[in-house]
Amino acid sequence: MFDITLRKAGLAYGDNVIFQDLDLTLKAGQWTCLLGGSGVGKTTLLRMIAGLTRQKNINTRGEICCGDNQPLTGRIAWMSQQDSLLPWATVLDNVTTGIQLRSNRLFRKAKLSADQKDRALSILERVGLAAKANELPQNLSGGQRQRVALARTLMEDRPVVLMDEPFAAVDAITRLDLQDLSCELLAGRTVLLITHDPLEALRLGHQVYHLRGQPAELTDAIEPPGQTPRSLEDSSLMALQGQLLDRLRHAEHGESV
Ligand SMILES: Nc1ncnc2c1ncn2[C@@H]1O[C@H](COP(=O)(O)OP(=O)(O)O)[C@@H](O)[C@H]1O
Ligand SMILES: [Mg+2]
Repeated sequence: MFDITLRKAGLAYGDNVIFQDLDLTLKAGQWTCLLGGSGVGKTTLLRMIAGLTRQKNINTRGEICCGDNQPLTGRIAWMSQQDSLLPWATVLDNVTTGIQLRSNRLFRKAKLSADQKDRALSILERVGLAAKANELPQNLSGGQRQRVALARTLMEDRPVVLMDEPFAAVDAITRLDLQDLSCELLAGRTVLLITHDPLEALRLGHQVYHLRGQPAELTDAIEPPGQTPRSLEDSSLMALQGQLLDRLRHAEHGESV
């Protein structure tokens, strides 16, 4: 496992400077959680780490280094708020989309090897959806669809996972279940999770940061005590949640706390 370090990272869309001189370390095998108001630049930061900002009109600077001195390219899986499932493809085909895309067969389905199919089915088992392998996404609930997206992420088997508000679209109870499941199944990977939900960040994060302002800056990390996923009955978690909510609210109103 390896740390990922951003040094003096900056990004501007044309003249619109989103952040500059940002320093951040994603610790190997840990979850880093990032909170912040809408439009502050969270997704932009994630896209920059994923190497998706090398475009005209986007100016970047700074560096992103891995502790093992290897490039980050090819070592990242991505999971977003929209499950992005293909509506015409079965759950199994959705879980193996990466294999299909890399097979370069645009119009014909690639045949999975027996190993690939076994692996996909065993991952579906782990997310509790083995019985749904041949269903279409439209026949699943929102929580089940996000579990398919999680299975697809696991199928990619990358050491780094970037998650952009992955559980924002599901109800509170489903969200808690998905948090527990992701925590268990992504253990040992280096995760950067963006969320609007302070409790989610505090349950799952080893380091919790708040991105705020324009250009955006990171606050010091909060490191909640105890093992993840942290229990809702943990009173220190509730106290931290109160502090974080207060901080987020003041930032929304343009004050610094
Ligand atoms: N491709 C783009 N081109 C120009 N501006 C963009 C682009 N993507 C995002 N922005 C702007 O950058 C700012 C940060 O966006 P974003 O990273 O999506 O915020 P967040 O994820 O925190 O809600 C917003 O003001 C948004 O309008
Ligand atoms: Mg966003």
